[in-house]
Amino acid sequence: MLDGKRILLIIGGGVAAYKSLDLARRLMERGASVRGVLTPGGQQFITPLSVASLTGDECYTDLFSLKDEAEMGHIRLSREADLVLIAPATADLMAKMANGLANDLASTILLATDKQVMVAPAMNAEMWAHKATQRNLETLKRDGVLMVGPGAGMLACGEVGPGRLAEVPDMVAAVEDFFAGGARPLSGKKIIVTAGPTHEPIDPVRYIANRSSGKQGFALAGALADLGADVTLVAGPVSQDTPIGVNRVDVQTALEMDAAVTTALPVDVAVCVAAVADWRMQAGTMGEKLKKSKDGIPALDLCENPDILKGLSSMSEGRPGLVVGFAAETEKVIEYARAKRERKGCDIIIANDVSDASGVMGGADNQVHVITGDGVDSWPTMSKQDVAVRLAQTIAGALDK
Ligand SMILES: Cc1cc2nc3c(=O)[nH]c(=O)nc-3n(C[C@H](O)[C@H](O)[C@H](O)COP(=O)(O)O)c2cc1C
Repeated sequence: MLDGKRILLIIGGGVAAYKSLDLARRLMERGASVRGVLTPGGQQFITPLSVASLTGDECYTDLFSLKDEAEMGHIRLSREADLVLIAPATADLMAKMANGLANDLASTILLATDKQVMVAPAMNAEMWAHKATQRNLETLKRDGVLMVGPGAGMLACGEVGPGRLAEVPDMVAAVEDFFAGGARPLSGKKIIVTAGPTHEPIDPVRYIANRSSGKQGFALAGALADLGADVTLVAGPVSQDTPIGVNRVDVQTALEMDAAVTTALPVDVAVCVAAVADWRMQAGTMGEKLKKSKDGIPALDLCENPDILKGLSSMSEGRPGLVVGFAAETEKVIEYARAKRERKGCDIIIANDVSDASGVMGGADNQVHVITGDGVDSWPTMSKQDVAVRLAQTIAGALDK
């Protein structure tokens, strides 16, 4: 896949620097030649000797090297590559790039290069979420820099959250995609996915909820991102890791989910997987905890939540080109889902059986029926991950029509 491709790998000063050694190896296995540059920070974590031994080339570290700069090494390195890949990219390196600083070898190469740059950030979750880092990220994206990751999960600092270096196979896939000419079918498409349940508070300690785990929606968001889409995942309260390359917005209630979806518009595709509560408390959350009383059981005065799927489907201006809904039914699955498609006005309904016997709610597998204007396509039972991959391809195919 990468035969003859020359990759300049810049390794920044993060704990994840050791993973860049495996990355170099995997890229070389696929036929690429890799040349390493270690930042001063990077050298605190791995040595130039490891990089040079693995890549079979010199590892470059110094801007003011008499030997290398006799032939303008920083310019040469920046040009003698087909792709400049930074992994891990520290907050510091991203800030330098976004602001055009050139005060060491790596940043000078990045300013001097005329080649595509791809960044794999890795840092503490607070550093990643910091407004400055997010501002720099936006600047880099606007400048045409490609991003891979970060993912979420356990970080080297012991905290959990976004900021984890993308897994090596994902970085390799991103490099392969780049050399395949950005041939991913959803490149340039903006997609919203909603996932998980919503929690509708009754009083400060109680809420109305459902058993949705968010697994299917999260898997779908990841699969859409893998096909190149720019995915915003609006997630109810779940404990799922954010898929690589997906922008996640966490919400609690249906009203918050509705607002987050509206904020993410306009999009090319909206996929409503979330199990949004139909009702919430009419008068809002009670200020004090509801007490048992001899007057009997309190009546919960409920009102309807906004219908996010219907709202998106019926937008008179700026409607997403494709609106996909999920129908969770416990009986007459196809019949009810067909009726739901008509009622909501969406383009595709994915129907699944969520009765206790199916084990779909919270389970690993799913069996879905894809209902369009053309009819029903019933897929066999498969993992939610496989459903997600096939569904992402179906969405790409529907946009292509
Ligand atoms: C133990 C340790 C781990 C660090 N891990 C990270 C990290 O994962 N990401 C990051 O952006 N900075 C991290 N830093 C801070 C950077 O090393 C520091 O900002 C450095 O100046 C980055 O230099 P560079 O971007 O030129 O490599 C870490 C620092 C220490 C001491």
